[in-house]
Amino acid sequence: MSDWISFYDMRHSLIYVNARHRDVHYRKIADDIRALVPKTTAAVLDYGCGEATAADVIAAACGHLTMVEAAPNVRAALSARYAGNAKISVLTPDAAAAMPAGSFDLIVLHSVAQYLSGPELDRLLAMFRKLIKQDGLLVLGDIVPPRLAAAAAAWSLLKCGAANGFFWAAVGGLLRIFVSDYLRLKKTVGLSHYEAAAMLEKLRAAGYSAQRAARNIGHNQWRMTFLAKPA
Ligand SMILES: C[S@@+](CC[C@H](N)C(=O)[O-])C[C@H]1O[C@@H](n2cnc3c(N)ncnc32)[C@H](O)[C@@H]1O
Repeated sequence: MSDWISFYDMRHSLIYVNARHRDVHYRKIADDIRALVPKTTAAVLDYGCGEATAADVIAAACGHLTMVEAAPNVRAALSARYAGNAKISVLTPDAAAAMPAGSFDLIVLHSVAQYLSGPELDRLLAMFRKLIKQDGLLVLGDIVPPRLAAAAAAWSLLKCGAANGFFWAAVGGLLRIFVSDYLRLKKTVGLSHYEAAAMLEKLRAAGYSAQRAARNIGHNQWRMTFLAKPA
């Protein structure tokens, strides 16, 4: 499903209807992740972080923030944006995979699992199992349930737009998505959806003891967040 990385690399401006939407989106995610940081010295990994325009909010609350982004243009922009912040490193997926076992107190995979096939997600969960400390926390956010996913995403975008002064831009953004290659990729490459029970089983099989969080990270409360600890 690597086509999604190319899509994200070239067309991330399509996902955010304008700069205001992008910044409101990343600020909410950063605030939600910051609330999960267990201590001020924590080593945190945000895997598939995207443009992460508010990553300094997380970095300020932890010891060190490692950001991993597979899309090369997005990663280059992140490296430039945070070059002056000694608490932030930007890595490739390969560099992250090569890190020593037990490197992180908190690992976050937010809004990425839907772009991975089941076996790809299993491989990532196994890698996180190695990278996480025995008392660490893995957070899987924005897991998309099978039903009403598109309607819930559209509703959540319009609601977020109305609350933050970009409602009409959100309407325009939805129309742009309809005429973009997003829908073609969705049909040909596909997106992965999970019921809560299926995700809990996947995490159990990967060596975690997990539960669903009361709220999802970010704006879309139709989607789910799971909190997993090494079993
Ligand atoms: C919607 S963005 C999420 C960005 C950020 N975490 C957020 O919540 O806004 C999807 C992310 O998934 C990443 N991605 C897509 N397919 C991937 C794959 N096969 N392996 C690793 N990352 C992938 C993209 O590069 C991008 O960072």
